[in-house]
Amino acid sequence: MTPAAYAVLNLDAVRHNLSKVRSCAPSAKVMAVIKANGYGHGLLRIAEALQPVDAFAVARVDEGIRLRKAGFKNRIAVLEGFTCIEEFNELLDYQLEAVVHSVIQLEIFEAGTEPNETCAVWLKLDTGMNRLGFKAKEFSSAYQRLKQCTQVKQPINLMTHFACADDFNDDKTPKQICLFNETIAGLSGERSMANSAAILGWKQSLSDWVRPGVMLYGISPFPDSTGQQLGLRPVMELRSRLIAVKQIEAGDKVGYGGSWTCEKATIMGVVAIGYGDGYPRYAKVGTPVLVGGRRVPLIGRVSMDMITVDLGTGVHAKPGDPVTLWGDGLPVEEIAQWADTIPYALVCGVTQRVQLVEKHYELNLRQYYQR
Ligand SMILES: Cc1ncc(COP(=O)(O)O)c(C=O)c1O
Repeated sequence: MTPAAYAVLNLDAVRHNLSKVRSCAPSAKVMAVIKANGYGHGLLRIAEALQPVDAFAVARVDEGIRLRKAGFKNRIAVLEGFTCIEEFNELLDYQLEAVVHSVIQLEIFEAGTEPNETCAVWLKLDTGMNRLGFKAKEFSSAYQRLKQCTQVKQPINLMTHFACADDFNDDKTPKQICLFNETIAGLSGERSMANSAAILGWKQSLSDWVRPGVMLYGISPFPDSTGQQLGLRPVMELRSRLIAVKQIEAGDKVGYGGSWTCEKATIMGVVAIGYGDGYPRYAKVGTPVLVGGRRVPLIGRVSMDMITVDLGTGVHAKPGDPVTLWGDGLPVEEIAQWADTIPYALVCGVTQRVQLVEKHYELNLRQYYQR
């Protein structure tokens, strides 16, 4: 028996999306961003599908350790770096690369005296995101201090991150590129700026390394397009099924709070998916849902385990019919708009209750679970 709610993952699509990155940035090395459990798709599965990629980026040390323990030998950068000596030692033990963005990190490096245990670093310049990184006026001093540290693998790599690369009308990105290039002029070390939006839209930001995240999962980084329109292929399809079908009459109120009132008699379907699975609690009435391949609107409030949809009259729907919440034919970008959120948050928010199933195994889930 298949689980009620599950997500089908198309790993061929991951490989296709990586080749799209390479065609946009043919002379750059690729640091694939697979933090937050591979944007909700499964860290190890995505790492495997991306092989042999030049490097991975994760947010936290424990994500890097998980990759190492699973046997991945690729370079792995930890985007949040480390905050204490214990984490620093783990970076060394597991040969992870640290993003260096704070004075505390410089001090920890300066206290280190073990020349046989070195750590590659990505020194981060804050060019305007105002999150992590040294300001331009502090950068040269941080660079010189790191250069003296016996435990820093030389040369020091250099990076920044964009705040508004998804908006082509905003002049912040060219200003960030300019400040980065000015500040690092003459310094040795490899450079990295571009996230997905910049890879697709800001060619002047492509340097030694690019750092694609969301586009690897087939999702557009831009608010007004879908991944498919950009030549990407969606990786995740969120599925469930109808568990009840019933007639409702004009005047009937549906769901918690009775917030939706039926205007004329129709057939209603109940789908086994809810915010307990990561379906967005604030998806509006009208959000499209595919039932048996047909678009129907969400009605009533999203509850923890169920949603309700208007199947319309004269249709033959029955419990067990397949439902797609997003995926082929129903872009996750479109659902994000209906729910006033971003597709990043939707895929990252799929909960542990949802079984992640590789497309290859979809037709024989029983065999999959016996692996
Ligand atoms: C430092 C850094 N680089 C690259 C990325 C990848 O961004 P995107 O998923 O928009 O490609 C992220 C994601 O948040 C990031 O924090």
